[in-house]
Amino acid sequence: MQKPPETSASSLFKTVIGSVCLRSPVMTASGTAGRSNELGGYGSLDQLGAVVIKSLSAESWVGNKAPRLAPVRAGMINSVGLQGPGVSAWLDDDLPALADSGADVVASIWGTTVGDYRTAAEMLQGALPCLVAVEVNLSCPNTSHGRRMFSHSLKDTEEVMEATEVCGLPRWAKLSPNTADISAIAAAAVQGGASAVVLTNTLTGMVIDIDRRRPHLGGGGGGVSGAALHPVAVRAVYDVHRAFPELPIIGVGGVASGEDAVELILAGASAVQVGTAIFADPRAPWKVLHELQGWLNQAGVEKLEEVIGAAHS
Ligand code: FUM
Repeated sequence: MQKPPETSASSLFKTVIGSVCLRSPVMTASGTAGRSNELGGYGSLDQLGAVVIKSLSAESWVGNKAPRLAPVRAGMINSVGLQGPGVSAWLDDDLPALADSGADVVASIWGTTVGDYRTAAEMLQGALPCLVAVEVNLSCPNTSHGRRMFSHSLKDTEEVMEATEVCGLPRWAKLSPNTADISAIAAAAVQGGASAVVLTNTLTGMVIDIDRRRPHLGGGGGGVSGAALHPVAVRAVYDVHRAFPELPIIGVGGVASGEDAVELILAGASAVQVGTAIFADPRAPWKVLHELQGWLNQAGVEKLEEVIGAAHS
């Protein structure tokens, strides 16, 4: 395991997302690090800003037919279909081990209706104190709604965010890049009570199996992540930061190196999430952390906030 260099890491790395102070700006991305301490054998989870778990619905959900993943030229495509055990089972079976690892945890929730989101949020009330925030997934491309997502509608985005207030924790809205005006959607999320936005979920895509002459993934289409998504995420972060400089943004999409993280931070992100890179190397979040610290040290940066959004000035 690579450890970040010793130099005053805590003050350099602290970052604030609304009312949540994270010990470092590198988190795992939902759907890429399981729901418990699965990555604990590869690095200290308490060095990460938070472990963001795979999205959960109120009840268990079977997800989509296999195959669910495929490599693509510049990343990966998935159609997992949000398989999960439901919130109660997660609280009982998975969260305690994650809490024991010393990690701060962000729960991700989803639903098929506004009421589903409310129920899932309600079930998180009174969870262990390691749960520091709830990421509200408004942007999965692999549900029965097909390509129509909550985060394609200003009204749906605002309503879901309002409905999830019942969890009693800060809520971050995870948005889709598949929309004409992501800044307007971010504004709707804030109107509904989001204290931060997570930019972005995957791009809708498809792989065709040319031998079978059919879509390759069991779910048909899927979500493209990894290197192909990175410039899309950088642009989304840049645009939303320009529109709302005070709104905390978490950048996600193709982060595989410290430089990728720096790019998102300069665009306006206060923290980043590492996702697809974990499938290639489960130590990727620590590698990104280490490289980010090296870049910041070399640039003479004493506090992360000095460079958040610096590409705009
Ligand atoms: O299919 C999936 O589980 C993907 C979820 C997401 O992209 O939010």
